[in-house]
Amino acid sequence: MENENKKINHIAIAVPDIKEAALKWQQALNMKKSEITILEEHGVKVVFLEFSNLKIELLEPLDNESPISKFLEKNPKGGMHHICFEVEKITETINSLKDKNINILGDGNPKIGAHDKPVVFIHPNDLSGTLVELEET
Ligand code: CO
Repeated sequence: MENENKKINHIAIAVPDIKEAALKWQQALNMKKSEITILEEHGVKVVFLEFSNLKIELLEPLDNESPISKFLEKNPKGGMHHICFEVEKITETINSLKDKNINILGDGNPKIGAHDKPVVFIHPNDLSGTLVELEET
């Protein structure tokens, strides 16, 4: 199996104020916190909080055009936004998803994500209303 040694990489949570949220998560669960970085291409500020087997990714929209700003309008206090699974070869995975009529968001091509690795998102309509990110590792 292509992805048998792969893991869930992170769970992402959209937040209205990333500084405040990062502090709260850090204090509540004694997590290690990364620096806040800006991902221009994804329209977000991002920070990672590390737990032993999982990272929590906090996302704050850069502006109203951000892909997560509508989500925050519906969930003003923030909320779970996506789950990121690691995959071996993202292009092969994309092709096999297309064969199964599972839709990729955007133009269907990988973008560079928060870890400088290629990522794509699967349409939530195709996976139980859940937004799933795939990251090549
Ligand atoms: Co993510």
